[in-house]
Amino acid sequence: MKQLFPATPGPIGIFDSGYGGLTILGKIRDTLPGYDYIYLGDNARTPYGTRSFEIVYEFTLQAVTRLFEMGCPLVILACNTASAKALRSIQVNDLPRLDPSRRVLGVIRPTVECIGGITLSRHVGVLATSGTIRSESYPLEIRKLYPDIRVTGQACPMWVPLVENNEAQSPGADYFVRKYVDSLLAADPQIDTVILGCTHYPLLLPKIKQYMPAGISIVAQGELVAASLKNYLCRHPEMDARCTRGGQCCYYTTEAEEKFCESASTFLNEDISVRQIEL
Ligand code: DGL
Repeated sequence: MKQLFPATPGPIGIFDSGYGGLTILGKIRDTLPGYDYIYLGDNARTPYGTRSFEIVYEFTLQAVTRLFEMGCPLVILACNTASAKALRSIQVNDLPRLDPSRRVLGVIRPTVECIGGITLSRHVGVLATSGTIRSESYPLEIRKLYPDIRVTGQACPMWVPLVENNEAQSPGADYFVRKYVDSLLAADPQIDTVILGCTHYPLLLPKIKQYMPAGISIVAQGELVAASLKNYLCRHPEMDARCTRGGQCCYYTTEAEEKFCESASTFLNEDISVRQIEL
């Protein structure tokens, strides 16, 4: 088979539609600081949450292919929408054609795995983009592992725009945070565990906590995904050996570089340099 991508070891690729994946990248780097990373944000085409399956799949496949070209042996879709709508097709249909030795992993499975040990009422809520909720990925994945858990989803279409526009801490955000939290709990008052099923939402955590009744566990994904990646690399030494170690992280965006740097500072506590690319 013709080798399409560099066979040499390379960085771990982290992909998101925009800035949200930076919340995952941060936790991954805390947990696995020695590895090299490439972050790619498709900021020019964000949000993905309101787009069709076909488009999210097409955009995500373009991003994965680009990260492979850049030398990544392993790519994490640090985006629930892409994980929900594109991951399985890419794993089953595209990887065998592109390069069967590379891997693409998502964020939904690692999040779902811990849920059974957290909820006591066995009633779980999911806050996510419209696309992720419509895909039913969370109820389907949870049912596979914990058939006794009842899952209720609530789409929060205004939350990603609030974060992307740097309004997460503003008084205007309160209305929409409260609206979706109330709506979720009205749909199932027995919920005792709520998954933040979008990588942007940790930025809204202070306000989400404010409107979530005490006693409800809020599950954010970063640490879960980081722990799952660490475990994956331990279980797959052949992949671990293909990931370079230098503690470096390079950033790429499909938007203007200045815009990315300005907004990324909300998510990261460091100055970064970024390069614009086309997908
Ligand atoms: N960060 C993406 C997620 O986790 C959502 C952002 C978007 O709608 O593009 O679902």
